[in-house]
Amino acid sequence: MHTVLFVIALMTAIALGGCKDKPGVGEPGAKLLDERCGHCHFTGVKHAHSTKEEWDQTVTKMMGKGAKLNEAEKATLIDFLVKYYKPQ
Ligand code: HEC
Repeated sequence: MHTVLFVIALMTAIALGGCKDKPGVGEPGAKLLDERCGHCHFTGVKHAHSTKEEWDQTVTKMMGKGAKLNEAEKATLIDFLVKYYKPQ
């Protein structure tokens, strides 16, 4: 009985932990972040910005470093970052 409860608690902890690390999983922006930013920022983006302008500047800067995004993808990603990557 106790073992079953322990396993359930453990699985819940793992599931919640996963959500916290990668918000918005399943949205197009999450995929772009993984594919276009992930090879340099493997744990996701830690430095959150508050405004769209700040994210625009950062993403533009990252494109200068080699992030590959077209204009539509850039807009999708910025919207995603504004929604999920803001200071807590
Ligand atoms: C070619 C590797 C590379 C790629 C691709 C890349 N980055 Fe970066 N990123 C860096 C490096 C190196 C730094 C630290 C140096 C700096 O800030 O100039 C950095 C810093 C950052 C910072 C913190 C500094 C700041 O200006 O706020 C953020 C946020 C960031 N990247 C987000 C992204 C996002 C979002 C993407 C995808 C669009 C991305 N990065 C793609 C290499 C990369």
